[in-house]
Amino acid sequence: MIIEARKIKKTFISGSKTLNILNGVNLSIGDEEIVALMGVSGSGKSTLLHILGLINRPDSGELLFLGKSVDFNNKAKLAKMRNENIGFVFQFYSLISELNVIENVMLPSLIKNSGSNKEKALELLGAVGMDSSMAYKAVYKLSGGEMQRVALARSLMNSPDIVIADEPTANLDKASSIDIVKTMRDINLSSKKAFVIATHSEEIACMCDRVLVLNGGIISEKNN
Ligand SMILES: Nc1ncnc2c1ncn2[C@@H]1O[C@H](COP(=O)(O)OP(=O)(O)OP(=O)(O)O)[C@@H](O)[C@H]1O
Ligand SMILES: [Mg+2]
Repeated sequence: MIIEARKIKKTFISGSKTLNILNGVNLSIGDEEIVALMGVSGSGKSTLLHILGLINRPDSGELLFLGKSVDFNNKAKLAKMRNENIGFVFQFYSLISELNVIENVMLPSLIKNSGSNKEKALELLGAVGMDSSMAYKAVYKLSGGEMQRVALARSLMNSPDIVIADEPTANLDKASSIDIVKTMRDINLSSKKAFVIATHSEEIACMCDRVLVLNGGIISEKNN
């Protein structure tokens, strides 16, 4: 297992109200699977992904990453794991507009202090279907679909165990959305990486191995 969540709870305070967003989430993500995470807007998908991705801490419950219990107090270890074990892809791409394509892809390896591995970045750009002629282009000149490919290449730069993608196709047209998820599947098969993909799209969910639905703060499995 890459990730196991046990009885994860998360509450937010909004004015005088307490929102029980995650109410005892149990789930596991296997080494080589693509899991879709569905649920209506506000059901807590992003909240959960931020916990699985070690960006935020749960109020209670346990998270096991590669079989080991995560210590949410150990900030340095969390940062190292986010950089080395987890890749992130977000809805709005989160690329750095001052950097060109290949610099964005190499960023995680620069943060890791493992240097600017240009060969690997070019290889990853190829794997996500970006022509090498695009490598030195400014990212703000790319289309949404191209930006998301660059973000996907970047998420893979440090060879993570899992890629966490929060509505990666929400801003793309249907054809580009399906292309991106197909590319994720190719990468899942060729380099044995797990993916968790939050999505509102039934069509995208059908391309995944399993579908988890967040409803009322708990997870249930949907027959795919
Ligand atoms: N930091 C916060 N403080 C207060 N409330 C929050 C915070 N983060 C999220 N929430 C609330 O928690 C609920 C779940 O939000 P979340 O973003 O996880 O939902 P989601 O399932 O990802 O929705 P969407 O499909 O629209 O992306 C929402 O009601 C949101 O307003
Ligand atoms: Mg969300």
